[in-house]
Amino acid sequence: MANAGADVAVCGRKIDDLDRVSKAIRELGKESSGFVLDVTATKNVQEGVDQILEHFGKVDILVNNAGINHRVPVLEFPEDAWDAIINTNLKGYFLVARAVVPQMLERSYGKVINMSSILGTVALPNQLAYASSKGGVDQMTKVMALEWATQGVRVNAIGPTYFETELVAQLRNDPERFNFINERTPMGRWGYPNELEGIVIFLAAPASDFITGQTIYIDGGWTIW
Ligand SMILES: NC(=O)c1ccc[n+]([C@@H]2O[C@H](COP(=O)([O-])OP(=O)(O)OC[C@H]3O[C@@H](n4cnc5c(N)ncnc54)[C@H](OP(=O)(O)O)[C@@H]3O)[C@@H](O)[C@H]2O)c1
Repeated sequence: MANAGADVAVCGRKIDDLDRVSKAIRELGKESSGFVLDVTATKNVQEGVDQILEHFGKVDILVNNAGINHRVPVLEFPEDAWDAIINTNLKGYFLVARAVVPQMLERSYGKVINMSSILGTVALPNQLAYASSKGGVDQMTKVMALEWATQGVRVNAIGPTYFETELVAQLRNDPERFNFINERTPMGRWGYPNELEGIVIFLAAPASDFITGQTIYIDGGWTIW
């Protein structure tokens, strides 16, 4: 996003990570600062967004990206893990949008990009809460898109397949799971993180101004069949 010209407010719970990423962005010549913002904590979300608006003046693009997972069969699924996943991956996106979108509506322009997953539309075992949350993100995207369609705020979702990040390190290190994902994907491999850059920039840019309410899959063909 910074390479494409954006100033970036970097949000999350770990101050060291926020400082590291915002420093790297400033080195690219764009304005950036880290903000401690836990998407599950309503008061903290509003305070964090207020600080961002004070610092940057406005937010034109919101990327709802926070995500966690816990992989166990349905009948063993702990209730606290269900709550944590739904509160982070689904309710958190609503809380942040509720805090950020009003100032977009005031200016009649904004872009909301919700990070979904192929698991919003296909199912796999052991993904009870995660798949439920991402299916919810796809529906949330459509409702928000409809409500704001005539007011300049576009809302879309991205549905990635498996990309090598911390979230999926456990699967990446399990040869059986790693190969299952390769074999299940028509293009025969996992995604490279840089293969998500184009879609985020496209959905954030005026080039996509007539697109709203969509989930766009970046999945090497996984969702074809
Ligand atoms: N990797 C994949 O294969 C894949 C595939 C499909 C979809 N996705 C989606 O892509 C998004 C990013 O995932 P990733 O793979 O980059 O995972 P990751 O490396 O584990 O990053 C997850 C991010 O979420 C943040 N986060 C978690 N809980 C939070 C909370 N309560 N408040 C604020 N931030 C929180 C974390 O920051 P802190 O820990 O600092 O809070 C971290 O920056 C997620 O929505 C995930 O579901 C990933």
